[in-house]
Amino acid sequence: MDATILNALRDPAGVPFYPVVFQGLYILTWALHIAFVLLSLGSMGLSLYGSTKQKSDSNWKILTPHLIQVGKISVSLLIVLGVAPLLFTQVIYDSGWYVTNTLSGVWVVAFIYALMIGYLMYYWYSYANKAGKSSNTLIGIISFLILVFAGILMHNFAVESIQPDKWMEWYAPNGVIDNSGLNFHIDIIRLAFMISLTIPVTGIFLQNYSDFLSTREDFSVDYIRFTKSLGTKMAITGLLISAVLFVIWMLRDGLLFNPLIIATIISVVILLIMASRSNKNSYATTGMLVIVALFISGVREYIRYSIISGMGYDIYSIPMNLEWESIIMFLLTFVFLGFTGVAFIAIMAWKVGKNEGLVYDCDTNPVLRKLGSATLWILIAWTGIYFVWGMFTLFKNSL
Ligand code: HEM
Repeated sequence: MDATILNALRDPAGVPFYPVVFQGLYILTWALHIAFVLLSLGSMGLSLYGSTKQKSDSNWKILTPHLIQVGKISVSLLIVLGVAPLLFTQVIYDSGWYVTNTLSGVWVVAFIYALMIGYLMYYWYSYANKAGKSSNTLIGIISFLILVFAGILMHNFAVESIQPDKWMEWYAPNGVIDNSGLNFHIDIIRLAFMISLTIPVTGIFLQNYSDFLSTREDFSVDYIRFTKSLGTKMAITGLLISAVLFVIWMLRDGLLFNPLIIATIISVVILLIMASRSNKNSYATTGMLVIVALFISGVREYIRYSIISGMGYDIYSIPMNLEWESIIMFLLTFVFLGFTGVAFIAIMAWKVGKNEGLVYDCDTNPVLRKLGSATLWILIAWTGIYFVWGMFTLFKNSL
């Protein structure tokens, strides 16, 4: 297959900025998306185990509801952070995503319902656990399986979109059109690798959790040790499993000796060493985990770019139509609203977590107070500018 069809499916309007920037943003935002996918599934999975132990074990009694809460917040973050790579992939690889949506239309719709039902059931699980209901584990298992299924669907879309040479065969097997929208194709090694990453990510999170709580008087030394040791065990075992699966995947695709892959493997080894030194501060380990996540995201993009450009579709030659209004709006939103808002929420979450009383009053902290009101004012100004600018553009074009 050559790139004729891929080029024909390309948006004739071109792209509004340098394609390499969209590619970089795709790598960055997908790494963020998958980080919360892994944390949500990992902490939820571990909480299911905890829900069977919490009646007889005081450590699991504290940890289980905390894990449920971490998973619950992470699902909402993974959804928000999934939108960004989705938009970036559509800008530079429009054909891939749209063809996949046609081939697997039923699964695309099923994905939305799976996400809604799975997440709603998660809240049910959380309330049932809080109320001490015996059905909580079963509800949690069903919710967990539905969310994992949503991930498998995502994987199906991702692997279909990078195989344009198979699209015709899937669309019309033996020349007979199949418009059922039921195409489903998985790459078992790649999927197993992605799922295995839930173990080390949750392990490193637990190490952070333990270090974070160690400064609080209301958590016992025994509990701090228990969570640190559990986290370290999970991080080491999980990283070893993921590394083996990654090597098998790369070996199969003939990429093992590629410099990017070697760099990724080296970064994983460094992460393994850092995660195994459990007496050290684990926040630096998380910094390394971010680097590893960026490498893995880069590897995914490298695989897609190599396949698609090998067919003659070059994202760097997509016509560019610089649209300064959108670029300025994007940058202003990102820098002012994004940085201020995220800084406010992150600092507040940190302070709330460190607080030992029941209520944390953010007004007592002058920096937080200023950040909070700055976020509010920037948001109000942003909303005004967004609508005024939008109306202006609408009428400018239609009148
Ligand atoms: C429970 C819900 C979800 C799970 C478990 C999940 C999991 C995953 C996984 C495992 C991948 C990687 C697949 C692979 O490379 O083989 C992926 C990719 C992706 N996900 Fe999600 N995801 C979820 C929800 C979402 C949502 C709600 C969005 C968008 C709003 C989203 C956007 C994306 C995008 C854009 C990609 C990359 C696709 C590509 O490169 O072709 N995900 N997701």
